[in-house]
Amino acid sequence: MTQEEFAVTCKELIKSYGHGETKITALRGVNLEVRSGEMMMLAGPSGCGKTTLISVIASILNQDNGECKVYGHDLNHMSKTERIAFRSKNIGFVFQAFNLFPSLTAAENVAIPLVIGGMDIKEATQKGCELLNEMGLGDRVSDVPADLSGGQQQRVAIARAMIHGPRLIVCDEPTSALDGHTGQKIMELIKKVALDETRAIIVVTHDSRIFSFADRIAKMEDGQILKVVNSYEEFED
Ligand SMILES: Nc1ncnc2c1ncn2[C@@H]1O[C@H](COP(=O)(O)OP(=O)(O)OP(=O)(O)O)[C@@H](O)[C@H]1O
Ligand SMILES: [Mg+2]
Repeated sequence: MTQEEFAVTCKELIKSYGHGETKITALRGVNLEVRSGEMMMLAGPSGCGKTTLISVIASILNQDNGECKVYGHDLNHMSKTERIAFRSKNIGFVFQAFNLFPSLTAAENVAIPLVIGGMDIKEATQKGCELLNEMGLGDRVSDVPADLSGGQQQRVAIARAMIHGPRLIVCDEPTSALDGHTGQKIMELIKKVALDETRAIIVVTHDSRIFSFADRIAKMEDGQILKVVNSYEEFED
């Protein structure tokens, strides 16, 4: 595979938090390749470094050492302006804690990436309403996050990450607040709307009910990727 056919390449990534006695090394030499066209799941025990890894991949955090490229681009080697422009166009991120804007309605939250991309607010909000409708939230588009349940907020966060058609979507526990049936429906929708041969999705999850949506599963433990497998059966071995 050429560099461009890989959505993500991580080589020997190292990342620590803090200094001295309180230093915690969250990534201890991570090697990982995510292919264009695949949904890769990333699973492992709490605290093993999953959120840290996807934050480095999405350039929300900087690694201390090692290399990370998204579609062949090393975001660390871009200027801040270039990095922000690349990230807002090409990467959608679903935060573990949703991170919605409290004063904006559901539809306005979803519209943000389109507005950043230059679309008129009214048109962007309309598109936000349409996507939320597909996600079963058609009657809640005008509500602010505080008036939505956790599962409803989670769907707004997912819609916001994919509305602008980014080449890479990174989701941190995207079904943690959803019941089994809604979780399945949302995973189906994410795959349908956000995945084709030129795009890729990384999903951090503990939810074994959604493993069947993965093309491959990466097993993480103590700051490293132990193995990458094709099915949940192999993952358990
Ligand atoms: N901002 C931070 N400051 C200090 N330590 C941190 C910070 N963020 C994470 N850590 C530590 O880094 C390690 C990896 O954390 P991370 O959040 O990446 O784990 P995780 O696999 O996503 O866990 P979970 O499944 O609970 O979300 C943990 O030991 C955590 O305590
Ligand atoms: Mg986490």
